[in-house]
Amino acid sequence: MLHFLWESISVQVLLVFLVVFLLVADYMKHRKPKSFPPHPFYLPIVGHMYLMNFSNPMMPVQKLNEKYGDIFGGDIFGVDMGSESFVIVNGLRMVKEVLVNQGENFLYRPEMPLAGELFSNRGLLSSNGHLWKQQRRFTLSTLRNFGLGKRSLEERIQEECRYLVDAFGDEQRDPFDPHFKINNAVSNIVCSIIFGNRFEYRDEDFQKLLRLIDETLTLNGAIMSQLYNAFPSIIKFFPGAHQTIFRNTRLMRSFVKEKIDKRKEGWNPSESWDFIDCYLQEIAKDNGEGVFQEENLMACAVDLFLAGTETTSTTIRWALLYMAMHPEIQARVQAEIDTVIGQVRQPALDDRSNMPYTNAVIHEVQRKGNIIPFGVPRMTVKDTVVDGFCIPKDTVLMANLTSVVCDKNEWETPANFNPGHFLKDGQLCKRESFVPFSIGKCSCPDELLARTELFLFFTALLQKFTFQAPPDTTLNLQFKMGITWGPKPYKICAVPR
Ligand code: HEM
Ligand SMILES: *[C@@H]1O[C@H](CO)[C@@H](O)[C@H](O)[C@H]1NC(C)=O
Repeated sequence: MLHFLWESISVQVLLVFLVVFLLVADYMKHRKPKSFPPHPFYLPIVGHMYLMNFSNPMMPVQKLNEKYGDIFGGDIFGVDMGSESFVIVNGLRMVKEVLVNQGENFLYRPEMPLAGELFSNRGLLSSNGHLWKQQRRFTLSTLRNFGLGKRSLEERIQEECRYLVDAFGDEQRDPFDPHFKINNAVSNIVCSIIFGNRFEYRDEDFQKLLRLIDETLTLNGAIMSQLYNAFPSIIKFFPGAHQTIFRNTRLMRSFVKEKIDKRKEGWNPSESWDFIDCYLQEIAKDNGEGVFQEENLMACAVDLFLAGTETTSTTIRWALLYMAMHPEIQARVQAEIDTVIGQVRQPALDDRSNMPYTNAVIHEVQRKGNIIPFGVPRMTVKDTVVDGFCIPKDTVLMANLTSVVCDKNEWETPANFNPGHFLKDGQLCKRESFVPFSIGKCSCPDELLARTELFLFFTALLQKFTFQAPPDTTLNLQFKMGITWGPKPYKICAVPR
């Protein structure tokens, strides 16, 4: 009897059953609470992927906002991309609400497939809960100690400024792409913190590593990478950008691992010269049984190395570009440098408070440069109500920082490069809507270091050079998407002053 029944069920029936089952399962999985933020029509399986702009894959949601912004009021809306459910918030009021007022509820980082590959969910950028809290506290206090240590961080950065100025001088005022020299200089600061040494700009292995990292971070914006984020278990079998990312990540990890292994060889537990030493001490303290483990050290080192190199150097590349495009602003910065510091003495951090104009220019570079336009994604720790909308646990949050740093109601001329945004009666004025480091409990832990680097590198370069477009060339502000959004490669002339 059973046998007979089985025979009579045709393949078609089975297929129909299977499809219905998949659709129902998909529907259950993506079912939203009644008061979920407004979202466009949802297609089975692909969710809102159909809205994706394939020529601009990092901006799937951009189109969404343009299309639905008016209908939804644009403050908060939902979108599903493959297996992840996102909520996007816009404007200072809303961004503050989720990152500060309700920051505790949005403290987690999502396990995004590609970011998981790069950052491994163990370090600073993408771990959660107890592990994250302990490592963040440890990193903050360790970095603070190095600032006050025998050889202060300020001197270390000043030394690197001299190398960078020399390297720009070597170009003999010919057009050149400053990208990897800046990258190397900035990277040397975190390298000296993490590994205890810097790398020569001529060091080919290190230059290769920097190029590899740059490629990797840019490839994050590729279509295959976005598809991998949405459907990792299928896309992993296909060739494409994500495969290059896997390969590069392995190379980068082995670079860091080699450094750690070498250190362990002749390690003296009573010495603490750098981040690795301090972390090894923590591991020894609780016999590697607590949160401090070698795997996590590796992840923290990689995170600091990546986050500390790319962000600051991208910002400096924007700064030189803006200076070359606004000679009158560049001239005012140089006049301030000449008055306060002169042409001989090296810029020091103490000079900053006497240089409101230069400081305002750096702020404006960060505002307009807007290198991390959607912040780093967060995730709800539990079901949360925002502005009357219900956001379930494990929903990814993107805070649209662009909507804050370009808000028409906050800035006099949001679309223009205008240092006046940060000046009042000739003094620097802080603005609440200046949020390049994000805000709240997991905002950038190294903002102080980054701002120190930006000030010292920027003033050191403008003290010695005037930046100009190469003859017969017009510079432009086109950007390249990736983990950070930097200027497209450009050539520039550094004319000695
Ligand atoms: C111009 C320079 C920089 C900018 C614009 C920047 C911006 C950011 C932003 C927007 C976040 C995400 C915060 C959030 O989720 O709300 C972040 C996190 C982070 N940044 Fe920075 N950053 C810069 C420089 C640096 C430097 C120099 C380092 C290290 C040496 C660094 C290390 C980190 C780390 C470790 C995190 C993860 C923090 C966590 O998840 O707890 N950043 N940064
Ligand atoms: C983010 O903000 C900018 C500026 O207000 C806006 O043009 C863009 O559409 C917003 N993106 C999203 C996804 O809301």
